[in-house]
Amino acid sequence: MEQTLVILKPNAVQRELIGELISKFERRGMKITAMKLSRISLETAEQHYREHRGKQFYEDLISFIRSGPSVIMILESLYAVDIVRSMVGATNPAEAVPGSIRGDYATSPGHNMIHASDSVESAKREIELFFKPEELQEYRLAVRPWL
Ligand code: RTP
Ligand code: MG
Repeated sequence: MEQTLVILKPNAVQRELIGELISKFERRGMKITAMKLSRISLETAEQHYREHRGKQFYEDLISFIRSGPSVIMILESLYAVDIVRSMVGATNPAEAVPGSIRGDYATSPGHNMIHASDSVESAKREIELFFKPEELQEYRLAVRPWL
């Protein structure tokens, strides 16, 4: 089974959309393996977005992701990385199709509501960055055979 890291960014929390967004993943059949509400530290934000260091939007990106608490979670399913990326939609909400999270809830690239790992390798790195091994829950969803 594959795992991916999702962040409901500070504007998703402020707009009181935590429950609505988590519901979409539950309905899709994804298992929540770990979850927390946390204001991301400067060090962690810089590590997380290190590929964007030096880009023109980098400073705004770091300051936005730290502007309030985020919900950080690990989701698990078959093909979790690709499924969640397609549910999240294009980086620029103007290009995100209706039905995707960014296509339904966002208008600006800088406030695009949600992060999702872009590959299995990124997911592994991001999971290790945000969670200690003991914060992950191992359990079996009773609906598993039906998904
Ligand atoms: P994320 O990492 O947040 O899931 O988003 P992503 O993979 O779809 O996009 P990525 O290229 O990794 O960019 C990270 C975040 O930087 C902001 N961004 N702004 N103004 C811009 O042109 C621009 N480009 C990227 C977005 O908030 C994006 O989510
Ligand atoms: Mg990215």
